[in-house]
Amino acid sequence: MIDPSSINQIVDLAHIEDVVGEYVNLKRTGGRYKGNCPFHDEKTPSFVVTPGMGIYKCFGCQKGGNVIQFVMDIENLSFTESARFLAKKYGIDIVETNSGNPDVSMELQREKESLQALNDFALTYFQDQLLNHEEGRTTALPYFKERGYTKESIDFWKVGYSPASWTAFYEYAKVKGYSEDVLLKAGLIKQREKDGSYYDLFRNRVIFPLVAVNGKVIGFAGRVMSKVDKAPKYVNSPETLLYKKSDFLYALSQSKSEIRKYDKVYLMEGYTDVMTLQQAGIGNVAASSGTALTPGQIRMVRRFTSNVTVIYDGDVAGMKASLRGIDLLLEQDLNVRVVPLPVGQDPDSYCKELGSDGFKDYLKNHEQNFIVFKAELLLKETVNDPLRKSEVISDILSSLSLISDKIKRELLLKELQTKCDIPIQTLYSEINKLDRKNRQNDSQKSISQELSLLKQVEATINEYADPNTEALSDKHQERALIRMIMLHGNKPVGTEDLKIIEFIIQELDDEENASFQLVHEPFTSILEYVREYYTQNNNAPEAVDYAKHPNTSISKFAAEIYSSDHILSKAYSDNLINIRTEDDNYPKELIDIFLNLRRTKIEEMILEEQKKLLDPEEDDSEVLQVLDYLVGLRRKIAEQIGAVTARL
Ligand code: GTP
Ligand code: MN
Repeated sequence: MIDPSSINQIVDLAHIEDVVGEYVNLKRTGGRYKGNCPFHDEKTPSFVVTPGMGIYKCFGCQKGGNVIQFVMDIENLSFTESARFLAKKYGIDIVETNSGNPDVSMELQREKESLQALNDFALTYFQDQLLNHEEGRTTALPYFKERGYTKESIDFWKVGYSPASWTAFYEYAKVKGYSEDVLLKAGLIKQREKDGSYYDLFRNRVIFPLVAVNGKVIGFAGRVMSKVDKAPKYVNSPETLLYKKSDFLYALSQSKSEIRKYDKVYLMEGYTDVMTLQQAGIGNVAASSGTALTPGQIRMVRRFTSNVTVIYDGDVAGMKASLRGIDLLLEQDLNVRVVPLPVGQDPDSYCKELGSDGFKDYLKNHEQNFIVFKAELLLKETVNDPLRKSEVISDILSSLSLISDKIKRELLLKELQTKCDIPIQTLYSEINKLDRKNRQNDSQKSISQELSLLKQVEATINEYADPNTEALSDKHQERALIRMIMLHGNKPVGTEDLKIIEFIIQELDDEENASFQLVHEPFTSILEYVREYYTQNNNAPEAVDYAKHPNTSISKFAAEIYSSDHILSKAYSDNLINIRTEDDNYPKELIDIFLNLRRTKIEEMILEEQKKLLDPEEDDSEVLQVLDYLVGLRRKIAEQIGAVTARL
């Protein structure tokens, strides 16, 4: 990565009027230059270069930025490529560094865009080869037809064909202006070590495009049409900036509306399994591409349904291998069912054998709860092996402990009791132990995640926010903060030896943290009282202190806070002394409150940056970088807060 100091040097030394002057006929007017915009057709010049600021701006097409941005636009290069281009031209030595810098996101964005354009291009190419060219029409099209796929399916899944030649795609893409660099980055070509020559990744294969949930083609899988020597059955695009294997589920993009509609997804292994079922009228399908499920894939499924039915190929080893992956589904509170297939069958073959109605019936009649299925599968082998049996039971219970719904769990436990022949008390005590462990792990992990996000947000505010503007806070957020103090003030934050009240006062007082002011009553009065009390007692007040406070606005609010149903009953039974809520989520809630407060600030900063974009005097490329970063941070906060709210 290029060191920021080198970027500064480039921006200083490569004068904008010189760089632009090579492409545009510029005329001087006062302290500026004008010319016809190189990015769109125009007869009267609306393209302005301001040397003093090192920027250009077209008031016709709105393109604008600094000298590096100009090269990116005009030469169609990435940020780094442009920087290097200019450095070379102006004899500037570039310093490389490994540390992160804010230009990265911009550069990545550029690179992603060029990969995307290439993938779109490749998709069209493969489809065209299948449908409109002699070779594809006589080899690949019959392959699909023989497997029973209709023209509709072929179009729906946008399958294609890559010719047998070693370089057909490479040469065509070259002609169309794609560089080796981007072709290699997309993994569509490879380079030979011995002579540096290039060749296609996909040759003589039918092509299944890998489409991300947002509908973008992010990679491809190619299947051999007949078993030839040692060639692998499938070849896949390597991971790229666009394609992350562990976050991809095949068919989700095409199936998501069906999945929503039926509130259920059938999960299987293969591309062709999915195609066959879809063609048979079972459209709520997705495939894991033959690997174990990952948390990323599950998060995606979750957006569309919480009912997952896994259809297993009929081989016991495969089923066993995938059991662990399924625990992940349970952990995410999904309802997991399974349908095992007969030995030697996969969804594609069995659906064809039974016909679509027969297969639908089979699915209906053979669907069973995952945990019961797992128990039966594993216990079969433990008949004369008590040691192994107890291992298996604790394994099953650890799956069961991942189910948070107590009623579901109870039912399953009863079912297991009859199946495993174990006293139910033993099952209960085992599972309680596991429960406790899970809860601890969970909450520690997410609290430290949230804290580090909060720190990042605060650092950003320090760095970019205008220190003269006061941070906003709204009534709702102030209320949440005071409520937190009143309900949990003297409890510890996570495992650290720090009380909620201390954490809050620290955050509020920390000058560095762009502190914000409470402005709404009664919250300001309550906070004032709490601070005073804390200074004297090193503690937050007890519930009764608020409730009996002479300031009626404080006691009134105390009544409101302590009167919600479950708190009230608890409060009475504890004589209004030790108030506890039923949830143990308060440390997360606490950090959420601050994240929310900071989010307001970040939003304000985003608006500020957006205003700058309208100002012709501002350096757009820098503004865009900051914006890009801030918007990313806002998304992270929203995700974090969203995730927690869902758990509450
Ligand atoms: P067909 O044989 O065309 O019906 O495909 P299939 O999906 O039935 O294949 P199989 O059951 O052998 O594999 C299931 C899934 O695993 C495939 O859809 C692929 O996603 C993946 N897979 C299988 N073989 C390979 C391979 O050689 N390489 C890679 N990368 N993936 C494979
Ligand atoms: Mn198959």
